[in-house]
Amino acid sequence: MGMVGRCKPAIPLKFGNEMDWNYSGKVVLVTGATSGMGKAVAEAFARAGANVVLSGRDEARGKALEEQLPNSIFIPGDVSAPHTNAQLVEAALSRFGGLDVISLNAGVLGIGSAVDAPLEVWEQTLNTNLSAIFYIAKYAMPELSKNPGTSMVINASIAAFKSFPNHPAYCASKAGAVALAKQLALDYGPAVRVNAICPGPVDTPLLWESAAAFPDPKTAVEKAGKATLMKRLGTPEDVAKLTLFLASDQASWMTGSAVTLDGGILNK
Ligand SMILES: NC(=O)c1ccc[n+]([C@@H]2O[C@H](COP(=O)([O-])OP(=O)(O)OC[C@H]3O[C@@H](n4cnc5c(N)ncnc54)[C@H](OP(=O)(O)O)[C@@H]3O)[C@@H](O)[C@H]2O)c1
Repeated sequence: MGMVGRCKPAIPLKFGNEMDWNYSGKVVLVTGATSGMGKAVAEAFARAGANVVLSGRDEARGKALEEQLPNSIFIPGDVSAPHTNAQLVEAALSRFGGLDVISLNAGVLGIGSAVDAPLEVWEQTLNTNLSAIFYIAKYAMPELSKNPGTSMVINASIAAFKSFPNHPAYCASKAGAVALAKQLALDYGPAVRVNAICPGPVDTPLLWESAAAFPDPKTAVEKAGKATLMKRLGTPEDVAKLTLFLASDQASWMTGSAVTLDGGILNK
């Protein structure tokens, strides 16, 4: 992989008026970039001029996104394995010459009660949703700590604060993700800011996977949207906007925060 100048201007893409961020010359690593919120986050950072390292397991979707986004590279791999996280950091350094922002979105549901869920489901859910954050921090913090204004944004969930039937692994992993965000903020501030986003129901494949447990998944998804104070599901772009804000200097006094982004559903 050849080195690319960090200030190389991105090819301008057409997009709406929702964002006015300038990440030109910044290097951003996005996990879960092959679907849902991570994909929207990667697209938003690319539109704002960033060089983007894309992570996911699905090579077809990852390569397609790499082709779509200027100054991006897709690195396939399972983030529940420590070495994948080392490779992602290494790719940012070798391809783009640095690392400024990490947006962590890789996640699985791991549905099943304590009795019913196989041990492998518990382990894979905890490893993907929680341990992977620890792994990337292990490899990335030395690099992030070198530059002022760097940051990590962890996509957790309102499941960190609220139980859902048959989601013990998911809820425990998300509560752990929020605790880990706070801990990393403590250990690596002021050099690196670390914040968590806690979304409510967002219209992505993961939400539909969760709804599949209901007799009528479509009705269950519609109900989830109507249950919010704003009477709609979140969109991946809602999460992308908050991610770009939290990673920017506009949020320079925010660290160790867990920000709910849920249409007010936790407030009912
Ligand atoms: N949707 C919601 O209502 C909701 C609400 C709150 C929080 N969240 C959280 O938001 C994050 C994004 O979820 P989403 O709703 O956008 O779901 P999604 O569309 O299913 O996307 C999940 C992403 O995680 C990646 N991923 C899963 N396991 C992986 C692994 N072992 N290694 C590497 N990548 C892996 C998937 O990529 P590959 O398939 O290519 O591996 C995919 O890109 C998750 O952490 C989720 O828990 C979702």
